[in-house]
Amino acid sequence: MQHLLDTKTLTRADALRILDVAEDMAETQQREVKKLPTLRGKTVVNLFFEDSTRTRISFEAAAKRLSADVINFSAKGSSVSKGESLQDTAQTLQAMGADAVVIRHGSSGAPRTLATSGWISAGVVNAGDGTHEHPTQALLDAYTLRKRRFGPDSRGRDLGGMRVTIVGDILHSRVARSNVWLLSTLGAEVTLVAPPTLIPQDLSAWPVRVGYDLDAAIADEPDALMMLRIQLERMNAAYFPTEREYSRRWGLDPERAAALPPDSMVMHPGPMNRGLEISAEAADSARSTVLDQVTNGVSVRMAALYLLLAGERGAGADTNDKEETR
Ligand code: NCD
Repeated sequence: MQHLLDTKTLTRADALRILDVAEDMAETQQREVKKLPTLRGKTVVNLFFEDSTRTRISFEAAAKRLSADVINFSAKGSSVSKGESLQDTAQTLQAMGADAVVIRHGSSGAPRTLATSGWISAGVVNAGDGTHEHPTQALLDAYTLRKRRFGPDSRGRDLGGMRVTIVGDILHSRVARSNVWLLSTLGAEVTLVAPPTLIPQDLSAWPVRVGYDLDAAIADEPDALMMLRIQLERMNAAYFPTEREYSRRWGLDPERAAALPPDSMVMHPGPMNRGLEISAEAADSARSTVLDQVTNGVSVRMAALYLLLAGERGAGADTNDKEETR
């Protein structure tokens, strides 16, 4: 793997490989000493043009547990236009000898621009670009689903037959997009539920079913309900009348959570608007996987960094083998 830019073009084999390696990584994280020497001497740069809590510290923890050097570059607030700022920053990182760049950017496509521009030779990991994709989030969600279904050793398994319902602000959500592609690649059935205003207009290319009624979706007994944050910062208009109205119709309140089958999972990528799309009771209930998702995120990001920087390089598949040019 040279870059991890999206899940839309990620093959089933590559997705399973990342999940399986993540499982190996998770095992090492049970040990008293969590640090592995695998990426000693490598430099990972976290390049964040947008706010982030868990994604940034998760990548930082992942890189450090593999013994890489980590540089955190928070570029938020830069007023330079996108092209210029990215190019200048990229060339600076190249000069510093970055081996991998983990980028979060407000513009959809920025990670691909970075990966294909020729400005850097580092591997690029998309940590969220605009409303486009957030592949490691979808991978950690798939990992969480697989673990809950198959238990301690789920290597090699896909999500065939699992039914996942994604609820809320689909329109602005890169998490939803990455999940739609990855879940369907792994064989799961995906249903989207939201107010019509928060569903993209043309879904003809999406492998999903669409509904507007959360109670009906719950009565359908999904294996998992994935609640999405209402992304007010991306809204330039009123997409629903009031927050109270939204939460009444599309929020996971305690009654709705209780109506789910006992083994249905409640997922949320965070950060949560408690009381809006999800009630505190549902978020903190035994069926909630919110904290598992955070824990699993570190293992999945360790796997991604490992496969980018150590795995299979020089095996012939990767023509841009940096080891030889440094
Ligand atoms: C998501 C993101 O930034 O896309 N959060 C995350 O990475 N855990 C979702 C969100 O912001 O709502």
